[in-house]
Amino acid sequence: MDFWAWLGRFHPALVHFPIGIIVVGIILYYINRYRPEWKVAQAISPVFFIGFISALLAALCGWMLAEEGGYDTNTLFWHRWLGVGIVLLSFGLWWWHSKDNLKPAKYGAPLLVAGILVTGHLGGNLTHGEGFLVEKGPEFLKKLTAYDEKTAIPTFDDPDSCNVYHDLIYPVLESKCISCHNSKLRKGGLDMSNTESLMKGGRNGEVIEGESVSSEIFKRVVLDPSSRKYMPPKGTPMSYREIKLLEWWIDAGAHFDKSVSQTETPKDIAGILLSRHKLDITPKSFLEKTKVPALEDQVFVELEKQGFAVQPLAMTSPFIDVRWKRVDSLSLSNALESLQSMASEQVAWLDLGESPLSDADLANVAKCKNLVRLKLQKTPVSDDGVKILSQLKHLESLNLYGTKITNSAAEHLSKMSSLRNLYVWQTGLDQENAENLETSNPDLEVVLGVSVGD
Ligand code: HEC
Repeated sequence: MDFWAWLGRFHPALVHFPIGIIVVGIILYYINRYRPEWKVAQAISPVFFIGFISALLAALCGWMLAEEGGYDTNTLFWHRWLGVGIVLLSFGLWWWHSKDNLKPAKYGAPLLVAGILVTGHLGGNLTHGEGFLVEKGPEFLKKLTAYDEKTAIPTFDDPDSCNVYHDLIYPVLESKCISCHNSKLRKGGLDMSNTESLMKGGRNGEVIEGESVSSEIFKRVVLDPSSRKYMPPKGTPMSYREIKLLEWWIDAGAHFDKSVSQTETPKDIAGILLSRHKLDITPKSFLEKTKVPALEDQVFVELEKQGFAVQPLAMTSPFIDVRWKRVDSLSLSNALESLQSMASEQVAWLDLGESPLSDADLANVAKCKNLVRLKLQKTPVSDDGVKILSQLKHLESLNLYGTKITNSAAEHLSKMSSLRNLYVWQTGLDQENAENLETSNPDLEVVLGVSVGD
């Protein structure tokens, strides 16, 4: 038996007693002040005295209960010292009253009522969690107190820089376990406040051993909540999604230095990361990851004048899809020069098919470094031109159907590591070279047979 801890458990039952008595004392005080003919004066002093004694007892038990730990430290600080203040003030009220000094009560009485309300409210928060009072209340009150059940959950947008343990697991342990398992309290001999002591384990040895199912830290949170060994024994239980994340982290080797992208992520975990942390782990395309400034409307007008049809790739995208309109009176060389100088970052798709393009013009095309799709079918482009294009590191689709390229182009094409689709129907590039290209770049599909040109 632990006598002091046992005494502590009486706090919640005892605490209502002084509240009632003190409030009665204060009511009597006001009755005496405004209705002296009711003759309650004699009762005030003894009632305040009983109020003081019971407040003292409740505070002592409260002090013992707080030593057990498991409470939010900030709230506990205020609850504890306001409680002590109430004991002192109730003593003062009795003392002054017994000396027939009624003046201090004029200020002391309302102060005591306010103190009891605030301290009681903080006590409610300690046992039922922050925001207990507003949780079921009207919306304006929630806004006023900035109560939001989701504010505690951090959001992330980059799986590379989101550390599994420090960003996802630790905050859960911190809010649900560490109030009892820290360097001071070490319930069950376990301190989870730093990685070393966490790995060291508790009274019964390591709490993370191999897989989640054999790890005490996981077993304890998936027990029947009515079990005596269930964790946390008080406060908010771990949610389903928090438990799944903990399981994922332990099964991935309980590492402390790996990011989400370095950790294998099953589908259900990916869903939890998205819904709980707004973290989308589906790989992003090059254009989704790349940020460039949007073009002025003036640039669209100017490029149209030069002979291009220009449109944004998507409504909100800064990238553009550009097509040469094959207007004979306009110079393609001049147009490409302008395109490169006005929009070299923004051109993502470029269609120059069936134009009188020369290899020299390709120097301007190669300056559009964010190009992902390029159509050059039925143009005079040659192997030298392809060499210039091999600078385009992000090109994913290249149409060379009906051009003069030969097997010599293969060497340059093999350097374009982002390439996924290559159309070389009706060119000098043969089957063997096409197959070699596909072997050296497994993501590449070389189309020799049909033109998917337009
Ligand atoms: C209110 C205090 C409190 C909170 C909060 C709490 N624990 Fe505990 N924990 C204890 C006590 C007391 C023991 C020792 C008694 C026992 O083993 O059940 C303990 C023991 C343990 C042990 C066993 C250590 C050993 O070696 O025996 C593990 C594991 C554990 N807790 C995990 C957790 C996890 C995980 C959380 C958060 C989800 C948590 N605890 C939250 C009080 C708490």
